[in-house]
Amino acid sequence: MFITFEGPDGSGKTTQLNGLMPVLEKQGLDVIRTREPGGTEIGDQIRSVIMDMKNKSMTPRAEILLFCASRAQLVEELIRPSLAAGKIILCDRYADSTMAYQGYGHGLDREALGQLLHFATGGLKPDLTLLFDIPSEAGLRRRLSNHEEWNRMDDYALQFHERVRNGYLEMAAAEPDRYVIINADRSKEEIHKEVVLTVMRKLNRS
Ligand code: TYD
Repeated sequence: MFITFEGPDGSGKTTQLNGLMPVLEKQGLDVIRTREPGGTEIGDQIRSVIMDMKNKSMTPRAEILLFCASRAQLVEELIRPSLAAGKIILCDRYADSTMAYQGYGHGLDREALGQLLHFATGGLKPDLTLLFDIPSEAGLRRRLSNHEEWNRMDDYALQFHERVRNGYLEMAAAEPDRYVIINADRSKEEIHKEVVLTVMRKLNRS
């Protein structure tokens, strides 16, 4: 079972991933977690290039290829072998992030992006994608109040985040069997309950 956590910056998806992990482990399930960009030694090196404030002149196309390079490595090195071994993989962001941020956010050719993503992942899609949906302004505010480090990716304007959010919602509407939209504008505890319920339901069905 391959489960991805998607959503705009500040949607709290990482907190929820952290909260879900021990619940699944307690059930005796073999769970591994990973994140994008990164998740492998090579991927983490690519991540630091992407996030580096020195790299402000990075072009959107160069950025996409770096995200895809990190992802290709992650799929082959970690995700496919783990799935083959029967594990549950929780992944903080995956291909839909590229479609949402670079496609909908930056307005790059979504059809070409789709082909590129297919190439990078070898066509591997998640079994379940949890979309943590939150109004863009609330998400950005939440992110700042967490005192997280402000990275280059955060420098984009609010309008950009709104396009990202709408992109996610459009993708979720197009693939209702894979996506579950979680209202992330609630307390951590409420969201946690819904996440656990959603994942347990999916696991029991398969
Ligand atoms: P990160 O610090 O991991 O933020 P978050 O906790 O929100 O996941 O930074 C990842 C940033 O990179 C985030 O702003 C989303 C962006 N991103 C893309 O633009 N495209 C992608 O394909 C991925 C994986 C991430």
